[in-house]
Amino acid sequence: MALTFEPTPDDTVGHKIQIAHLADHTDAISTLARWFKAQWPDYYADRTLADIEQGFGDDLNRDRLPLRLVAFEAGELAGTIVLRERGNYTRPEHQPELGGLYVADSHRRRGIGKELVRAGMAAARELGYQAVYATTHTAGGILRRLGWEQIGSVQHAEMIPLYRCDLTSSVL
Ligand SMILES: CC(C)(COP(=O)(O)OP(=O)(O)OC[C@H]1O[C@@H](n2cnc3c(N)ncnc32)[C@H](O)[C@@H]1OP(=O)(O)O)[C@@H](O)C(=O)NCCC(=O)NCCS
Repeated sequence: MALTFEPTPDDTVGHKIQIAHLADHTDAISTLARWFKAQWPDYYADRTLADIEQGFGDDLNRDRLPLRLVAFEAGELAGTIVLRERGNYTRPEHQPELGGLYVADSHRRRGIGKELVRAGMAAARELGYQAVYATTHTAGGILRRLGWEQIGSVQHAEMIPLYRCDLTSSVL
């Protein structure tokens, strides 16, 4: 299944961004594993790159969860996001969740994170979900600009804002 991607009118790099299922780009997995281990060294401290790669293997779905997307800018792997049942810290009703959002350093602050979230929202809607959730500090600005609302906080090592997006009213 090809993903439909319509760049937002105010997006200066949108025409160069392509978003696809990781299932169609499994050669990206080794790079994603290196990125994640470098970005979250404590979380992945006990896991080898091979372990992390194996974990990405669970995300190779197109029409069910978990479903991971990858972004390419001018053909170069630039970032990723996952739509999954729920995170470790949220309640059962707070699902599905968008998480595992990452954009490589050299591609940041050009709207790719926002487009990955938009594509994740579209994927959730295509699967029939009416709402989608996320917990984040760093991506709060992206979510709010896309119409998400903070509905609470969840306890992790610290309190993290919990966001919800109503997919029946959001403009994708
Ligand atoms: C968080 C992350 C995914 C954002 O990716 P990104 O591609 O830079 O995201 P965007 O470009 O859509 O938006 C990031 C910021 O750049 C700004 N921006 C977007 N396009 C811009 C442009 N052309 N010029 C200047 N700023 C721009 C956005 O307004 C946004 O600002 P904000 O942080 O104040 O909300 C990325 O920084 C990352 O991978 N960080 C490390 C991992 C992480 O923290 N992941 C989130 C876990 S929940």
